Amino acid sequence: MTSSHDPAVLLGPASDRIRSAQDREALQALERDLLGKSGPVGQILASIPTLPGEERRAAGQRANELKRALEEALQVRRGELEAAALEAERSGAGFDPTLPPAPLERGGLHPVTLVVRDLEDLFTSMGYTVLDGPEVELDHYNFEALNIPKDHPARDAQDTFYCDPEGQLVLRTHTSPVQVRAMEHIVREKLGPPFRAIVPGKVFRNEAVDASHEHTFHQMEGLVVGKDVSVGHLIGAMKTLLRGVFGRDIEIRLRPGYFPFVEPGFELDARCPFCAGGCRVCKQSTWIELLPCGMVHPNVLKAGGIDPEQWSGFAFGLGLSRLVMLRYGIDDVRHLLSGDLRFLEQF
Ligand code: DAH
Repeated sequence: MTSSHDPAVLLGPASDRIRSAQDREALQALERDLLGKSGPVGQILASIPTLPGEERRAAGQRANELKRALEEALQVRRGELEAAALEAERSGAGFDPTLPPAPLERGGLHPVTLVVRDLEDLFTSMGYTVLDGPEVELDHYNFEALNIPKDHPARDAQDTFYCDPEGQLVLRTHTSPVQVRAMEHIVREKLGPPFRAIVPGKVFRNEAVDASHEHTFHQMEGLVVGKDVSVGHLIGAMKTLLRGVFGRDIEIRLRPGYFPFVEPGFELDARCPFCAGGCRVCKQSTWIELLPCGMVHPNVLKAGGIDPEQWSGFAFGLGLSRLVMLRYGIDDVRHLLSGDLRFLEQF
């Protein structure tokens, strides 16, 4: 046996090097060195094919022995270095109490929240109550009570996510189901009619997502029930809404629109508040489709426990996400729920 392959002889200098490694990186480099091909273990292994047959087994054992010893020494030193690092950290050395702290990041309100708060201020100042309803809704309220029976074609336009095998629980496709819930509540608690309410909230549709369609977006429902409520009242309320949002009078036009829960139903378009004709936002039509609305259908009043012979009302379904996009010039609805700080920090 050549002495250069004697584990005891090889281990000595290697252990010295390991013990004098001053940090983790140095130790890691050393480990690669010592256990690698050209290290002492590798050298023994490489020599095996050149040895006479009867010596090979012993050489193999020596290589293993040396490897184990080196690993152990490395492990011991690693432990020492870690303990020393912890000790140094705990001693507080290098801590400078005069350095300024890392700046505190200040959060901000989401653009949808900003617009909802403005609208709530505006509507509560006009005597409206702000209501809320469940996002996981019964088929009954989302469709049936709104005059949309099973197999009604209007259901195709509002495909949703069904939450139970029977199809009775759905993610609400609009805030309109809260119309009926509101009526039931008002009647049950003897708070009216008459009454006025708005319902801002999240709604869901099973649809292909693109720059102008999201599976989750925001609407704000409005409902007014009283004596002799007319289309004139509806128009007045909508003009006030737009003035509140855009800070000045906005010209509007009504087109007939079909929604099973209103009769007559309208699409209320607003003159694009950003241009006198032709721009990125309104795509040159200068009219923006913004506010579907109408006079509450007698069947819906009945579903809510209110006598349509005595009371009438109007309702509207403001596309809140749409309005937020308009107000801040956002060109892709997907930004709103992206949670992307690069977007959110702009508000
Ligand atoms: N719920 C309808 C939708 O999401 C919008 C709507 C239309 C709401 C007319 C209303 C209304 O209150 O009167 O498509």
